[in-house]
Amino acid sequence: MADAPALRLVQVFTHFWPQARPLRWWMVLGVVLLAAAPLIAIAEIFLFQRLVDDVLVPADLGPLLGIGALFVGLNVLSAVVSGGDDYLSTWVSQRFLVSLRTTTFRHVLALPLHLHEQRRLGDVLSRLTSDIGSVEAFMVRYLANGVGAVLRLLFFVAALFWLQWDLALASMLVVPVFWLISTKFAGFVKDVSRERARRGGSLSSVAEEALASAPLVQAYNREDEAVDGFHRQTRGIAEAELAASRIRSAFLPVVDLAELVGILCVIGLGTWALSTDRLSLGGLLAFLALMGQCYRPIRELSDLLPALFAAAAGAERVVELLDEPEVHEDADARPWAHPRGYVRFEDVTVRYPGAHRDALHDVSFSASPGEVVAIVGPSGSGKSTLARVLTRQVELTAGQVTLDGHPTERLTIASTRAAVAVVLQEVMLLDTSVRANIAYADPEAGPDRVEEAARAADADSFIRLLPAGYDTRIGQRGRSLSGGQRQRLSLARALLRGSKVLVLDEPTTGLDPDSARRILTPLRSAAAGRTVLLITHDPVAVEFADRVVHLDEGTITPAAPERRHPARPIPTLSGGTR
Ligand SMILES: Nc1ncnc2c1ncn2[C@@H]1O[C@H](COP(=O)(O)OP(=O)(O)OP(=O)(O)O)[C@@H](O)[C@H]1O
Ligand SMILES: [Mg+2]
Repeated sequence: MADAPALRLVQVFTHFWPQARPLRWWMVLGVVLLAAAPLIAIAEIFLFQRLVDDVLVPADLGPLLGIGALFVGLNVLSAVVSGGDDYLSTWVSQRFLVSLRTTTFRHVLALPLHLHEQRRLGDVLSRLTSDIGSVEAFMVRYLANGVGAVLRLLFFVAALFWLQWDLALASMLVVPVFWLISTKFAGFVKDVSRERARRGGSLSSVAEEALASAPLVQAYNREDEAVDGFHRQTRGIAEAELAASRIRSAFLPVVDLAELVGILCVIGLGTWALSTDRLSLGGLLAFLALMGQCYRPIRELSDLLPALFAAAAGAERVVELLDEPEVHEDADARPWAHPRGYVRFEDVTVRYPGAHRDALHDVSFSASPGEVVAIVGPSGSGKSTLARVLTRQVELTAGQVTLDGHPTERLTIASTRAAVAVVLQEVMLLDTSVRANIAYADPEAGPDRVEEAARAADADSFIRLLPAGYDTRIGQRGRSLSGGQRQRLSLARALLRGSKVLVLDEPTTGLDPDSARRILTPLRSAAAGRTVLLITHDPVAVEFADRVVHLDEGTITPAAPERRHPARPIPTLSGGTR
C-alpha cells in the first residue's frame, strides 16, 4: 500500500472545509468567546495596577471595596466565558467528528471490492478512528487555539503599547528570535510528526493481520515472525516518539532563554523608567504581568505548528481514503423496475487496477429466465469477477452488461443488487443467530420463509440439531460451523432473497457429492422463472446446468477444453489402487 501523498496545510483545510461549513457560525461564536477571555484578563491586570497604585502604595483602604467588587465581577464573567467556550468547542468538535466519521465510513463501504481486498483492514480502521481524530484537531481544535492565541497576543501587545509604548517596543525585540527558532524547528517537526502518524496505522494493520490469521500462524509455527513484525512496528513508533522528544528538549530551553532575556531587559528598562518617574510601580508590575501573558500565546503558537503538521499527516491518510472513487452510478440512473432476469454480457472487459492482464476479456454471452447456465473454467479464469460484474462490485473497463435490455450503468446500484442474489465464493457469516444470518438477505422475512429457504438449501436438518436450533449463535465468522454447513447457510440466505437473478459462486465447495446433489436438485425448481448462473468446478454441478460457458484466462472458449489428464486410478494408502 502506497503512503498517503503529502499535502500542504492549506490543501488539508480546503479539503475538509465543506464538512465544517455547517458549523461555521458556531465557530464564529467560539471566536467571540475566545476574544472575550483576554479582554477580561487585561481588565483584571489594569485593576491590579489600580490596586497597587491606589491601595497598596499609599496604604489607603478606601478604594479597596470598589476594586474588590470589580475583581469578583470580572472573575465570575471570566468563569462564564471560559466555561461556555469550553463546552461550545467540545460540541463543535464532536459534531464535526460524527459527521466526518459517518460520511467516511459510508464512502469506504461503497468502494469497489478490489480496494477492500488490496487495503489492510487494520490500516483502514486506524484511518477511520485516530486519523479522523487528527482531522478534527486540525479543523476545529488547533485552529481555534491558533485564532485564540493570535487574538490574545494582539490584545496584550496593544495593551502593552497603550501602557508604555517605548518599553513595549523594547520588549518586542525577542519576537523575531522566537520566530526564527520556531521556523527552524518546524521542518524537523514536520517529518517526525508524519512518521509518527504513519507508524500508528501500520501497527494496527500488522496486529490485525496476525490475529485474523491466528489459525494459520499457529499451524505453521510462525508466531516468532508475527511477533517480530509487531515488535519492529512498535520499535518504529518508539523511535519516532524519541525523535520528537529530542526536538522538544532542544527547542524548549532555547525558548525559555529567549523569554528570560526579554523579561530581564524589561525589568532593567522599567526600573530606569520608574526612577525617572515615567512609570508607577503599579504600572511596571502591570507591564510585567501583561508581558508574561504575551509569552504564553507565543509559546502556544510555536507549539501549534508541530501539532498542525502531525494532524495534517493524519488528515492526508483520510484524504487518500476519501479520494478513492466509489463504484460509478449515473446521476440519472433509474431503479430496475419489475426485473425479469435477462442477463447479457457484451464484450465485457475488466482489468483490476494495477493488474498486468485483463481478468475478463471481451466476454459475451447471455442467460434467460428459466435457465441454469454453468460457468466453468480453471482457477483464476475470471469466474468470480464475472459474478462481481453483475453485482456492480467492480467497474467495467470496456463493454457493457444489460439487464432486461437496460445497460447496468443506467440502473441504480441498489436496485441491481436487490435483483441479483449472490452466494459468494468466500462464505461470509456474521456473529449472530443462524436465523439472523439467513434473514440478512431480507430482514422482513418471517420464520416460515427463513425455514423454507433453509430447507431448499438442505440446511434445515443440521440447523435443527444445533443446540438452540435457528437461534444458535454461530460465533465470529461462523467458525463454530463446518465448511459445508457454512456453505449451505450462505445458499439459504441467497435463496431467501427471491431475486430474479441468482449467482452461485462455487456453491458446492466443501460438500460431498450427495449433499451437493441435495442442494442442486431444489435449485432446478428454483430456476423456474429466474436466471441462475452457476459458477463451479464440480462435475456434479455441471450436470444440473442447461448450458455451459467455458472461461479460460478471462475469455470464453467455444467448447469444453480437452481433458489434459485422463482419469487416473486413485492410489490408496495401502499402495494398491481403487
Ligand atoms: N482484487 C484484485 N486485484 C487484482 N487482481 C485480481 C483481484 N481479484 C482477482 N484478481 C485477478 O483476476 C483474475 C480472475 O480472478 P477470479 O477471482 O475472477 O478467478 P476465478 O475464476 O474465480 O478463480 P477461482 O476458481 O480460483 O475462484 C485472477 O488472475 C486474479 O489474480
Ligand atoms: Mg472464484
